[in-house]
Amino acid sequence: MKSLPEGWMAWEVSALAEAVAYHNKLYWQDASPEISDYDYDRLVERLRDLAPDHPVLISLGEDEAGRSGDAVTHARPMLSLDKCYNEEDLLAWSVKFDGPIVMSPKIDGVACSIRYDDEGFLVLSATRGSGTVGEDITANVRRIENVPQRLPVAQAAEIRGEVYLPISEFNKLGGAFANPRNTTAGALKTKDPNESASKKLSFFAYDLQGVEMTTEMEKFATLESWGFTPVEHTLLEREQMQAGYESYVARRDALDFEIDGVVYRANRVSEQVRLGATSHHPRAAIAYKLQGESATTYLREVEWSVSRNGTLTPVGIVDPVKLSGAVVTRISLHNWGLVQAKHLSLNAKVVAMRRGGVIPYLEAVVEAGDQPITPPETYKGIPVVIQGDFVSLAEGHASAEQEVQSLKHYADAVGIEGFGKIWLETLHEGGLLRSPEEFYTLKAEDLMGFERMGETLAAKLIANIEAHRAIPLRPFLVALGIPVVGKSQAGTLARHFKSLAAIRAAKTSEVAELPKFAEITAQKVVQGLIDKAALIDALLAHVTVIDDEGEPEVAEGGPLEGKSFLFTATLSAMSRGEAQKQVKALGGAAASGVSKSLSYLVVGAEGKAGSKLKKAQDAGVTVLSEAEFIALIDELRPSEG
Ligand code: IVH
Repeated sequence: MKSLPEGWMAWEVSALAEAVAYHNKLYWQDASPEISDYDYDRLVERLRDLAPDHPVLISLGEDEAGRSGDAVTHARPMLSLDKCYNEEDLLAWSVKFDGPIVMSPKIDGVACSIRYDDEGFLVLSATRGSGTVGEDITANVRRIENVPQRLPVAQAAEIRGEVYLPISEFNKLGGAFANPRNTTAGALKTKDPNESASKKLSFFAYDLQGVEMTTEMEKFATLESWGFTPVEHTLLEREQMQAGYESYVARRDALDFEIDGVVYRANRVSEQVRLGATSHHPRAAIAYKLQGESATTYLREVEWSVSRNGTLTPVGIVDPVKLSGAVVTRISLHNWGLVQAKHLSLNAKVVAMRRGGVIPYLEAVVEAGDQPITPPETYKGIPVVIQGDFVSLAEGHASAEQEVQSLKHYADAVGIEGFGKIWLETLHEGGLLRSPEEFYTLKAEDLMGFERMGETLAAKLIANIEAHRAIPLRPFLVALGIPVVGKSQAGTLARHFKSLAAIRAAKTSEVAELPKFAEITAQKVVQGLIDKAALIDALLAHVTVIDDEGEPEVAEGGPLEGKSFLFTATLSAMSRGEAQKQVKALGGAAASGVSKSLSYLVVGAEGKAGSKLKKAQDAGVTVLSEAEFIALIDELRPSEG
């Protein structure tokens, strides 16, 4: 067998189509393939991504011997699911309709549609594909044991669900495959049904179409009576949704299938019809995504650390456990309220989870422990008070540690360089620097009294401070250290209100109208500005805050931060402007030309890519098809409000 030539991923449509047609003929007509099925499938996949309607794709396979791979147009589009990542967004979704909710695990497999004719015979099965057009996989689906060949009723119907490979079967394959999902996808697309059957795929049904039903629960019961294995399903009220999600988190390691979330759907079909769908997802369903890896371990101890605003946050010390490749011993327990809400105790069996680069945190409690957790009564001699969900240092008892943290936060936010933690501690201890406005009254002579501080360094530090007497509104807001005002919130506030005076005069209701500001956050912003009034006034005696001139809408800290995108050819799903906006909203940048530093060139599905593609290939830039780009954006985009 030959392998694919290096750089084939960068081939243009015509070269790909030629290769696909060539290898298709070798396989089917000459029965002497030159490349592996896997490589052949990769070629086809790539062509399908770049040019889903290419004529070469429609005539694939051997005409007489089977239609495997043929395009199948779905009777109704197979949509995606909207997604959310927290209980708040899940609840917000759930108030849009009446009646109970059906919960099921989101199976990480391959979506599949199976059609039965009016005598109840299985006649056609297809992958989701583009959502409108999928790929014929009938021969392979017929070989899945828990898919009935014939319904017990003479009745036309379409069953949708997820084909998956049980983990117990995957483990028997002995490490030859990347993961159960890829193995499933490969086994469904292979042209040899015997090989496909040898993998022992399985099917979970989650939808029944073409038959009048009034609820999801009724559909599940029917599917079961027809011989399908319905996906696990539980009827819930809204207040039970979060606990349901947590129960899946806790069970995740014990399941024989991989899940990547929990799906919630309105039980009543009438409500589903009333809400309808966007072009992307039905509005009456949502996936609460499990992100990142999770691992089970035991909580042994709780440490408390003080944050900038005097809150004591609990940190869990756990038995060492591997999570996304790193050994974890400390996990965030968020706050005291969470410790109570989850009835957490020492020696409890817990699930730790890590999303992206974030520090690992407690996701769920699997089994109770045997020793209660109590907050400390004092912290470094300072009395501690408990207020609702939070434990904090008693008012007026800011600790030295806390004051130093505020100074550091201020210097970092406005960009004053040279003041590391050690210097700040020294100056704080020496009584020269207790609050941020005191930066501006420091003199070189004051600094020179300290060990290791020469004339040059002292002058440099003072110059660094002097360079920041004019501060743009946004970093100034961040620098104040109001708990809910990070870079992104400060950016939104600055862009909307333009000046510090306008922000200080804003009412909660005005702030609450801004994107991503809930009522509670808005209250905290307004209260925070009141709490910081003395600090703001003290600072204004020394600095000028520059009004916001309208910065570009770049989401800082977004998942695409540091990545640049250039678009070529015509996009079919959205305008180029819209695509650029989406990139920026995720923290990325829109580039104007090809260079070595370009991260991605996106080739639209319509029109010609031209010279940019060639240049990008020469420069070694990653090329994405429009479909790949949309998949990337979809994956990274937070749920659609
Ligand atoms: S309900 C609009 N239930 O997740 C589709 N889907 O990301 C409504 N999936 O394409 C489907 N497990 O293939 C539903 N228990 C489950 C599911 C599930 C996995 C897949 C489905 C869909 C994809 C969306």
